[in-house]
Order: sequence, then C-alpha cells, then structure tokens
Amino acid sequence: MSIEKNVKRYTITSALPYANGPKHIGHLAGAYIPADVYARYLRLKGEDVVFVCGSDEHGTAIPNQAMKEGTTSQAIIDKYHVLIRDCLYNLGISFDIYHRTSEPIHHQTSQEFFLNLYHKGLMTEETSDQYFDEEAKTFLADRYIIGTCPKCGNPNAYGDQCEKCGSSLSPRELINPRSTLSGKPPVLKPTKHWYLPLQDYEKWLGEWILDSHKNDWKTNVYGQCKSWIDAGLQPRAMTRDLDWGIKVPLPDAEGKVLYVWFDAPIGYISATRALFQELSDHKKTFSTPQRNFGAVKAEDWKKYWSDSETKLVHFVGKDNIVFHCIIFPIMLHASGEFIVPENVPANEFMNLEGDKMSTSRGWSIEMHEYLEDFPNKPDVLRYTMLTNLPETKDSEFTWKDFQAKNNNELVAIFGNFVNRALVLTQKYFDNQVPARDALTSLDEKVIADLKEFPSRIAASIEAYRFREATAHLMDLARLGNKYLAETEPWKLAKTDMNRVATILNIAIQISGNLAVLAEPFLPYTAQKLRDMLNLSRLTWQQTGSADLLSNGHSLNEPSLLYEKIEDGVIETQIKKLNDKKNQMELASQPATPLKPEIVFDDFSKIDIRIGTVIAAEKMPKSDKLLKLTVDSGLDKRTILSGIAKHYSPEDILGKQVTFIANLAPRKMMGMESQGMILMAEDKDGKLRLLQPNETVAPGSTVS
Ligand code: MF3
Ligand code: ZN
Repeated sequence: MSIEKNVKRYTITSALPYANGPKHIGHLAGAYIPADVYARYLRLKGEDVVFVCGSDEHGTAIPNQAMKEGTTSQAIIDKYHVLIRDCLYNLGISFDIYHRTSEPIHHQTSQEFFLNLYHKGLMTEETSDQYFDEEAKTFLADRYIIGTCPKCGNPNAYGDQCEKCGSSLSPRELINPRSTLSGKPPVLKPTKHWYLPLQDYEKWLGEWILDSHKNDWKTNVYGQCKSWIDAGLQPRAMTRDLDWGIKVPLPDAEGKVLYVWFDAPIGYISATRALFQELSDHKKTFSTPQRNFGAVKAEDWKKYWSDSETKLVHFVGKDNIVFHCIIFPIMLHASGEFIVPENVPANEFMNLEGDKMSTSRGWSIEMHEYLEDFPNKPDVLRYTMLTNLPETKDSEFTWKDFQAKNNNELVAIFGNFVNRALVLTQKYFDNQVPARDALTSLDEKVIADLKEFPSRIAASIEAYRFREATAHLMDLARLGNKYLAETEPWKLAKTDMNRVATILNIAIQISGNLAVLAEPFLPYTAQKLRDMLNLSRLTWQQTGSADLLSNGHSLNEPSLLYEKIEDGVIETQIKKLNDKKNQMELASQPATPLKPEIVFDDFSKIDIRIGTVIAAEKMPKSDKLLKLTVDSGLDKRTILSGIAKHYSPEDILGKQVTFIANLAPRKMMGMESQGMILMAEDKDGKLRLLQPNETVAPGSTVS
C-alpha cells in the first residue's frame, strides 16, 4: 500500500552523466527529457521545484579516457563537462543548476556523508587480496584488468563485465588476467576497504519498495528491485584504490578514494547545496535557476533533502536502477538525515536504426552532432524522443521516423493549425483577436473538449507516462486543425464575417492553450508561440479556458513554427551514421606492434627516392605482382611490386612512387627487382601508394 503524502516541494534529479566523452541522444530518453517535462510542468503549476544535475567526474572512466586521449583526467573533465552541459542546456533541459562532482563543496559533502556512516558504525572494514600491478605500482580497478571470460571464452573480458556475453564478473573470475597498464599479469596483494553491509537493509527495502511501492513504481523498475532483493544482498565496498577521486577521509586510507557510485549520487545533494549557496549570495552563474526562489538562506537546501513533505524523484536509465533504488536509498536511509525517493521512473533503452546505441562503436547520434546539424530544431528532437520513449520496453530512433514526426505531425498538424489561425486573423482582423458571436453546437463541443485537455495531460505526466502526455498534447492541435478543416473560415469570409470571427476566436484560444500546455514538451515552440500571440507566461491552472485571450488583444506577426525536412537531409544523416561506424571499426582494430628501436645510422643507410612509373604490366603467371619500369632520376629500372590486387597497370602508369633505391637486387619468379616500392598498409591489408603531395623531380630524395 502506498501512502499519498502531503507534498510541499519537489526535488527532481537527472542522472549525472560521466564527463568522459560526448553523450548520445539515447541518454535523453531516460534521464533528461522526461525529467524536464516533469519539472517544467510542476513549475507551470506553481509548485516549489528544484531540478538538479551535473557532471559525474570520478571513477575509472575518467582516467581511462585521459589515457586514451593522452592527456590528464582534469583536462578530460573540463572539456566534457562544458560540452555536455551546453548540449543539455541547448536542448532545453531546464536544470536549476548543472554542478560538478569535482567542486570542493561536493568533496566536502561526500566526505561528511561517509564519516557520518563511519562514526555511526555502519561501515565494515575488511582486508582482502586484490590485483596489483607491480610495474605500475598500483592496485588495479576492475576495468584495468582484462582476461578470458569464464562464461563465454572471450579473451578480452573486463574485470567487472564481459562485453561479449554481458555477464557481470569479478576480476578474480578472469582466466589469465593481465593489467591494461603494463600488459603484465597482476599479483594479489592485501588491501583494506570500507564496506556498506547492504544485506542489513533487506528487511527495510522489503517494506519500503516491495510493500509500499508495488503499485506506484513502474513494473520494469519494481521487477529489477525485487530480483535484487530476492537474490540476497552482499556487502559492497564503498572505497577503491585509485588516484582519481575523493579521498577517503580516514587516517589510514592513503591512496584510497570513495567508490564513484558512493560519491556520484551524493552529487545531487551537493548540487542542491551549491544552488542555495549561490542564490543566497545573489550570485548569477551559468546555472541560473529556472524560477524565482525569492529570498533564501544557504541552509534552505536541507528542506529539499530532509523534509518529509518533499517529493524526491530520480530520473535515470535502466542501467542505473540498482544504484538509485537500492544502494543510494540505503545510504540515505542509513544516514538518518535524508529522505528517500518517492519514485525512480527509469526507462529502458532507445536503440538506433535497429541496433544498440553506442558511442564507442560509433553507432550513435551524439547530442553535439545533432545540435551542429540541426541548431534550430531542439524541439524536433525532443518531440521525436517523447513520442518514442522506451517507457515499458526498448524503443527505437530512426531518421525516417524523425522526418515523419516533423513533417506529418509538427509541421502538418501543430504548425499548420497555429499558422492558419494566425494568418487568417491577420488577414481578416488586422491581428486583433475577434469577438465570438453565437456558438454552433460544433463550437460548443470544441470548447468543451478543450477544457478536458489540461487535466488529461497532467494525469499522464503525474503517472510518468510522458509518451501518452505528448500524444494528448498533439491531439489538442489535432482538434484545432480538424475544427478549421470542418468550418473552413476562409470560404466564409465573403458571406459571414461574424461566423469567421467566432471560428478564429476559438482557434486563437486553442493556440493560446497550446502555447502553455506545450511548454513542458516543446519549450522553444511554446516560447515562439507565446511571442506570436503576444501572451505573457500563464499558469497550468489557467489553461482549458476559451477566454485566455481577450477580444481585441493584439497579436504579433505570425511566422512558421516548423519547417519541412527533405529526404536529402535524412539520407545525409543515415550515410553519416554508417560512415562513422565503419571508421570506428577500422580505428578500433589494434595497430601492428612496433618494431625494435633503431638508431639514426640504421635509418640513414636507406636511400629512399621518388620515381615516376613509365611502364607497367602484369607479371605473367602471378596475380600479385606488377612489373613496373620506374624513372628513378638515375636510371630507368625494373621494380616488381606486390600490388596487383590493389592497382591495375593503367592505375599506376604515370604515377609518382616512393621506393628504396639501394636495396640489393632480388630475384622474384625468375626476374630481378631493382628496388622496392613503399606502400601504406591499413588494418584490412589494403595497400596504397605513398606519393609526395606535389609532383617532384624523379630522383628526389626522401629523408
Ligand atoms: N555517471 C553515471 C552513468 O552515466 C550516472 C551517475 S548517476 C548518480 O551511468 F546518481 F550517481 F549521480
Ligand atoms: Zn563472456
């Protein structure tokens, strides 16, 4: 049984993205767009809302990326924090603050949190053997150990997970483990860590989740929680041996940091703390809050985390469920200071064109890529995502669907309706809202229908059914469109201006309602529509009315809300996606290992020259060799080259080539080759000529 509590304020969180690289649009479907709809809706209702997010800047993901990019962890988080923050902001995600877990206030909050649990005796200390890299002189995080998966035999499974078969692993299960730092097999060494005994909270979780939230949590979320709890919980280490992160605030914890999943969710609390600090300092920063909080004190943040009349809702993707439903709530509950979430309406995953979205495999649309290609269309992406949210099962984004949603719904229904209403009002009534005359039964029906929409949309939002809510919104535009199609005011202008006035008044009222009701879903559209209607910000409670805009109210010039997207644009995107994947595949194949080091003298013995191919023919009885005659600048010589599979004689004739001029002649298939042509060979074994980027005299040396 769930007890509806009296709600005075809302704390809404979106999962903190790792600042280890760009984020693809799939993330928007879980943690960001639904959360934003929810927060914007509640603000329109006048509720007291705090909506927080920020960068997750710890964990091994960060130093891993730094290693890949050949830079420091600090440089990585600085770069991606800004990139991700700006993308989310440009997509209209209306956080009150976008914080960072590298901020001192977060380090302090996390350490206090840890010490509180520690001093209450709620942490257990345990020394165990962990893998250590003797060459790199460091304990190895799970991700730094690679070995053979005991389940499927994949030789490159990670210490925490096999990406081939999906099993979650522990490093000790790997066969033939090796360190990713040195490539050497690691050794076991004892190390001390602090654990949260999750099993001690099984009873509490059973009552809190399994009993109280059976009916109000989504079945996918509830089901995951139930299977975790049923399987029995284990103590979980809250500290790690790592040199990147928040120091464990104990004297005997040199070289140890807090586990990233301990500190990251505390980031929601630190962000709220930072927000109220900024508000009380009257500091205007990037994270300008989305509403007027009035006069506040720095310690007011506490209400949003401790008061039982606060409703805390975490928006996450399905891979984050266990952390937000089990581990973090246990931390919050154990602290004795904080409330636990009312709901964690996690979504499933959104696939892309028939395959799992993945930045590392190149099968993704990164938020910044979308915004670069469609800078003035954040709402089109929001709408396509909203109509496809993976609320009950995985769903899919396709470019064709994106085009269809834009052209057939946003342009043809929403945009078309609003445009007709405004353009006709401009034409017949000089941009003044005309007064209604006597109503027909159709008019009355439309006005009555309009009245139903706000509560219908609200009910869906409050039940976290954002797809359904979006469909209701579009239905309102549909209602307006159908009304104009049925009444055809453009045909009545010559005969019955009173009738035209009535119809357009109603159409304008529907447009006004759309301007408010669309705001949670399509904030840029709503803003533009409000501007055209010359409408100030209204509340959700004012909607449903056919008297939002008074008679004679002046409208501004109409312009199109959306534009059609042509086939070519979509084809370009699909090609771009495929090209990116192919490129990534090539880049991810391991490069040929380095040869042993040589000294300069070794190199300078080689006489490398540029020559021009003056004759080329296939070598008889060979499918590999071409027989080339090369003008070397010194002589005209025969060189046999194994490139017949990659170049035909015609392809290569007249081309400049790079060759070794002083290689002792070699006999191949009975013929002498007087040199060797240099080629670039990629990981597929494809050969390409090396040429100077401008023609040079034959015999030019290369050094
Ligand atoms: N960075 C994590 C991820 O991308 C999410 C962290 S959510 C938080 O999966 F609660 F820990 F902040
Ligand atoms: Zn496996």
